[in-house]
Amino acid sequence: MLPEGLVLHHGHLDAAAQAGLLSALREVARAAPPRRMETRGGRRMSVAMTSAGRLGWVSDAKGYRYEPRQPSDALWPPIPEAALAIWRAVSGWKEPPDCLLLNHYGEGARMGLHQDRDENAFDAPVVSVSLGDPARFRFGGLERSERTRSFELLSGDVLVMGGPSRLIWHGVDRIRFGVSPLLDKGGRLNLTMRVVREG
Ligand code: SIN
Ligand code: FE2
Repeated sequence: MLPEGLVLHHGHLDAAAQAGLLSALREVARAAPPRRMETRGGRRMSVAMTSAGRLGWVSDAKGYRYEPRQPSDALWPPIPEAALAIWRAVSGWKEPPDCLLLNHYGEGARMGLHQDRDENAFDAPVVSVSLGDPARFRFGGLERSERTRSFELLSGDVLVMGGPSRLIWHGVDRIRFGVSPLLDKGGRLNLTMRVVREG
């Protein structure tokens, strides 16, 4: 049993839908190349990230924030329709997301426990889509100190973090590299869509 507001749509995307979304995300990555950013503390993340939408998520020594432009000064590419269709199907939210954050996990990449709290819009859910290699997703409660549990996210799975689970601590322990044939070079893509309010 998952906590209220954390909803797994296992196998939401069939093979054709995964391939279609993947090719749309390749366009995003062409227009806005993923980068391994630095955390506030100056450590380089193992996951490479980029964004699509009105705002993109960035991290550097100044901290975590949303920016209307890429470091190159270009606007972020639009959120692909295939991703917006998933948002409409599972979010229960009227407005479209402002940001699609695209994460690429190569061999050995992981993501430490964190909360998604740079959005100032905690009434709107975060919708997360997994493609490629399986990932061990870990989640806890609203306090960092709470006990955590984990389960595996597979290619085509869609996870909603909303309601009382919008601000849960979560992360990715590891991926099982090379298990999925979806990405030519192996690895995993995760995209999260978010509503962002400034200020
Ligand atoms: C994230 O929390 O930003 C990523 C979660 C995931 O990769 O499944
Ligand atoms: Fe997150």
